[in-house]
Parts: sequence; C-alpha cells; structure tokens
Amino acid sequence: MKKILVCYSTRYGSTGEIAGMIGEELGSTGYEVMVQPIARVKDPGEYNAVVIGSPLYMGKWLAEARDFVSRFRHSLGERPVAVFSVGYSMKDRTKEHLQSGEDALEAIRIFINPISTGFFPGRVDPDLMSPADKAVVRLGGVTPGDFREEDLVRTWAKTLAGAMSEEVK
Ligand SMILES: Cc1cc2nc3c(=O)[nH]c(=O)nc-3n(C[C@H](O)[C@H](O)[C@H](O)COP(=O)(O)O)c2cc1C
Repeated sequence: MKKILVCYSTRYGSTGEIAGMIGEELGSTGYEVMVQPIARVKDPGEYNAVVIGSPLYMGKWLAEARDFVSRFRHSLGERPVAVFSVGYSMKDRTKEHLQSGEDALEAIRIFINPISTGFFPGRVDPDLMSPADKAVVRLGGVTPGDFREEDLVRTWAKTLAGAMSEEVK
C-alpha cells in the first residue's frame, strides 16, 4: 500500500486538527496515512508522498515548518508534495488575502514545487495564547473565533487524493 505522510506544525492545535481531517480523507481513498507533528518526523523519504501544513504567523509559515522543507528538500524533491496553510485571513477569501497566503509560500517554493496548495481558515482563541500572541490579536483588532471550514479541507483532500494517485510512484 502507498504510504502518505501528513505532517504539520502548530502553536495552538488548530492546524493539527486540520491535518487530521486531511489524513482521514486520504486514508479513506486507500492510502496508508501517517499524521504527525513535524518534530516527530524522522525521514519523509520513507513515504511515497508528503503533505506539509503550517499556520500563518505574521505572514509566514512557522520556522519549524520552513526548516523542515529546507532540511529535507532533496527527498521532498523526489516525491509529490502538497502543502496547506492555515490562517485567520483565509476566512475572507479575497484576492488580497489569498495573495498573502501565496506570498508566505515563497519561502517554501525556493526548495520544493508543491503539486497542490490549500489555504484554510483557522482558529483564534486568546484563552490558549501566550501573553505576547494575545496582545498581537488584541492590538490587531482580530475577532476571536473558530473559523475552520471542514468541508473546504475535506474537499481539498479528496482532490489531492486524485492528484496523488497520478503522481505517486
Ligand atoms: C500572533 C499571531 C499572528 C498571526 N498572524 C497571522 C497572519 O499573518 N495571517 C493569518 O492569516 N493568520 C494569522 N494568525 C492566525 C493564525 O494563523 C490562526 O489562528 C491559526 O489557526 C493558528 O494555528 P494553530 O492553532 O495551529 O497554531 C495569527 C495569529 C496570532 C496569534
């Protein structure tokens, strides 16, 4: 059975839950799926395909996720890779907001050429946050809430399953 790794970085958990939904969808289309935090991944080269996710913080992927892509660029370059980004701004899918998501991927595209990119709304829960992050949310006038859209995530994952079946060796 073809093996797919779905790995993610997160600060407050919402990206991990989205990774779980993606893993479920890929698993239901017949792949053997491993969903893991990036810090636990030893070697993405053990998988036929890889999905990598990160939340957006101050317009960027988390350093841990960027470092993962840089560190494993050679083995990632040899297999299909899809990426997804999670952010508050993705709840209003304006051209500008989607462009900010694309801009964040520039740091990734230096190393890999994803077969698919997903942009999903996230969760802003000040009760979970560090004082510094809480302050950014307050000063930025960000409205707290859980804006995740499960349908959007699952639809992307189903499309991805199709794309991967053509690409996976
Ligand atoms: C300090 C801070 C900065 C953020 N910066 C962005 C951003 O630049 N763009 C965006 O769309 N969302 C931004 N967000 C929202 C997070 O990406 C969103 O809450 C996400 O779901 C968090 O994922 P996590 O729970 O996996 O850490 C920010 C949130 C915080 C607390």
